[in-house]
Amino acid sequence: MEKISRRNFLGMSVKATAATFVAGTFAPASNSFFGLAGIAEAATKKISPFTFAVITDAHLHDIKDHKFDRILERAVDDINKMNPAPDFVLYGGDLGQLAKPGELDKGKPILTRLKVPYRIIPGEHDWYLDLGKGWKDRFGTDHWSFDHKGVHFIGMNSILVDDYWTGRSLTPDERMGWCAELESHRCGAWGVGSEQLDWLEKDVAKLSPDTPVFIMTHSPLWDYYPRWNFQTRDAPEIRQILSKFDKVIAIHGHVHQVVYNSMGNMTSAGLLSTSWPWPYPNVQMPYPSIRMNRADPADIYDGLGGHKVTLAGDMGLGGTLNYQVWSDLLPANVQAGIKL
Ligand SMILES: [Fe+2]
Ligand SMILES: [Fe+2]
Repeated sequence: MEKISRRNFLGMSVKATAATFVAGTFAPASNSFFGLAGIAEAATKKISPFTFAVITDAHLHDIKDHKFDRILERAVDDINKMNPAPDFVLYGGDLGQLAKPGELDKGKPILTRLKVPYRIIPGEHDWYLDLGKGWKDRFGTDHWSFDHKGVHFIGMNSILVDDYWTGRSLTPDERMGWCAELESHRCGAWGVGSEQLDWLEKDVAKLSPDTPVFIMTHSPLWDYYPRWNFQTRDAPEIRQILSKFDKVIAIHGHVHQVVYNSMGNMTSAGLLSTSWPWPYPNVQMPYPSIRMNRADPADIYDGLGGHKVTLAGDMGLGGTLNYQVWSDLLPANVQAGIKL
């Protein structure tokens, strides 16, 4: 594996600064969940212009006509109204709440209503009832990659933990419950594991360093707040494998909030959920101004949202991320968009 060198790091800083950040062509309608989708555009000599949408963390409950159903349905409907249509949709995990068949069986038909293909990764709320069997039966592999118009897209399952259930004789429901806690110390620190690390190394082995790379995981690829599993324990290994690239953009679910970080050649941004906003953990942020205001607890739509990403690849992959919400949740500097 290659290591991040000071030379590479400085080189990326210059490239990121020099990258052209262009305004997005999509203007979300007021109060529309369409605007809560992530949209990426790329317009360079290397990368043909395109858009895609992102939704995540629906946390569907096995309860008839639950409010989270309506929010996800609205998100899907609004994406279907996008003009031009996105090339595809990414979903960032936690489709269900307790990985129950009724939750996943409710979520899949909603996602299937998307008029464009979608790719999906699991979250912990999809997984620990049956260790991913039900999720895999419905959605297939939990890690994947594909190339689209010059960009290499990667999705990985970042919520794998060591066995905490067998020695304690936990039932499947107890196992799921332990990992569904925000204070997730009982299930332990999660990550992608050695099998996916080997896969990732092979996956990117033949790619040239100037290939734009976009990676989605459920949890952040940096230590944000480990006691809530706002981390991926083998993120350093992932970043090292990807360190050969000029620029990597990472997005993640799980945190349900605006958050940003930059480490070496990787910029990282958290996604807003379609369910509820988490409070900010009490940590010193490297970029403390890139966060959202406290959501109004009396407004079930406040604090929910997504983002618009604008990519430009003439100097290596760069871009801006615009979070968009239904309310005045964002401070002005975040409304204006943040550099990726
Ligand atoms: Fe979540
Ligand atoms: Fe999660």
